[in-house]
Amino acid sequence: MQIGAHSAQHRSRNMTKRPRGQGRKSRKPAKRKTRVKLLAVGHDVIDAGHETIGECCDRIAESDSGAIEAQLQRLRSLLAHHFQNEELLLKAAGSSLCGCHALDHRIMLALCDRAIRSATDGDGKSRKVIIKELVPALRKHIAYRDQLIALYLNTLDTPPVLHS
Ligand SMILES: [Fe+2]
Ligand SMILES: [Fe+2]
Repeated sequence: MQIGAHSAQHRSRNMTKRPRGQGRKSRKPAKRKTRVKLLAVGHDVIDAGHETIGECCDRIAESDSGAIEAQLQRLRSLLAHHFQNEELLLKAAGSSLCGCHALDHRIMLALCDRAIRSATDGDGKSRKVIIKELVPALRKHIAYRDQLIALYLNTLDTPPVLHS
């Protein structure tokens, strides 16, 4: 009786034994990569621009100081291109960005310029400017401004198309 119980216990222990390399430690999730989450507004061109900008902000959050300047320059160019696309979409629809919308764009470009200057000066503040100032400003901008232009563009009889 006792022998059988022992065997069952032994078998049970063996069945629950984890294969090599699959112990508790390996189940621990890998260190989370930064992920800037931005609201989708439901317009393909605008959402694609935000996605690329968000990914670039992720790279900046993860970059070491040697690589950050190139990523900041890339972000500056992505932002400028995206803002121009929004202007062109509205123009093609016979409208234009409102003053508040255009002002937000200028403020975000200025934040990016400040981050680039910080990287050039080596004061170590550029990442903080992007993650703590630019990303929150972009989130608000998308929710309060871009969402409205997406709604406007998506409800036109003939939504404008950008030609590259
Ligand atoms: Fe936008
Ligand atoms: Fe915008």
